[in-house]
Amino acid sequence: MSETLRIKRPDDWHLHLRDGEALKTLVPISAGYCQRAVVMPNLVPPVTTVAAAKAYRDRVMAALPDGQSFNPLMTLYMTQETDAAEVRAASACDEIIGIKLYPAGATTNSASGVTDIRRLEPIFETMADYGLPLLVHGEVTTDDADIFDREARFIDEILEPLVNRVANLKVVLEHISCRNAVEFVNSRDKLLGATITPQHLYMNRNAMLTGGIRPHNYCLPVLKREEDRQALIAAATSGDQRFFMGTDSAPHVREAKESDCGCAGTFNAPVALAVYAEVFEDAGALDKLEAFTSSNGPRFYGLPENADHLTLKKNSWRAPAKVGSGNQQFVPWLAGESLRWQVTGT
Ligand code: NCD
Ligand code: ZN
Repeated sequence: MSETLRIKRPDDWHLHLRDGEALKTLVPISAGYCQRAVVMPNLVPPVTTVAAAKAYRDRVMAALPDGQSFNPLMTLYMTQETDAAEVRAASACDEIIGIKLYPAGATTNSASGVTDIRRLEPIFETMADYGLPLLVHGEVTTDDADIFDREARFIDEILEPLVNRVANLKVVLEHISCRNAVEFVNSRDKLLGATITPQHLYMNRNAMLTGGIRPHNYCLPVLKREEDRQALIAAATSGDQRFFMGTDSAPHVREAKESDCGCAGTFNAPVALAVYAEVFEDAGALDKLEAFTSSNGPRFYGLPENADHLTLKKNSWRAPAKVGSGNQQFVPWLAGESLRWQVTGT
């Protein structure tokens, strides 16, 4: 008889669902492995207001097939112009979970992001007053900053001073990718949490750059060294409530990835749970998987855990070669590769 794993239904605390036609392809995939998802606001144009976030949520829900249940938790995209009134409105809206900070130029659709974080301090104070979390893309963007050092430099130069100055601000350092980030989160209190993606747990930068350049393994923050991956595995499998699942599944159509200037983003939604299970099993920590996927995130955000469950079976299967159709075709991360665990139901 094959092994099964039954965990409380996971939530994805960092997800890109895109918009328009793509929603019909992408929403059912994520609703298949998680109940709630924190939906990123980096659309074109970005989702900067409560009204825009609610309208986006409606479009997401309209793409949900009958019979599936899914609760998108929306985020606002912080700009230099974000004001206290919008923060108050966001904190009063149950469908909005936080505000996302992209340093301008850090990643996909971050051109309208923040250029002067220091000047936004009154807004961070207001967020702390209202208990509204700040979700951070933690990379500096200056030309002198080496791409592999951008997260560590952000922590030293921006994040640490910020959390020291603004007491009581709840912060999620998203998609952490290096040892310094793990150490920084470990050194703080429970107001600082971090999401970890499957790709940063499963691969180091060799997987992107040896034997040919692999655009589907390219995301931001970029994959780092093996020692960084080992630190991330230790954090994810520790059971520590500050570390939780956020896939950062970030689809781009095939042509945008397989290009002479390919977009950053790894479309991992079809395989995310399978890969997390594999990583935890290899670390001898399958008993900690549920904490990471299903308990730590709700605890950080002050929400209840999901009541229902998800079952994975140890059953070899292959990741799909593509999903979607027409001009909306996406190549999943690990396309065609064999995986050990398969999500089989509730
Ligand atoms: C994300 C995207 O494509 O929207 N890309 C990525 O490489 N992770 C943006 C982001 O989260 O940085
Ligand atoms: Zn992201």
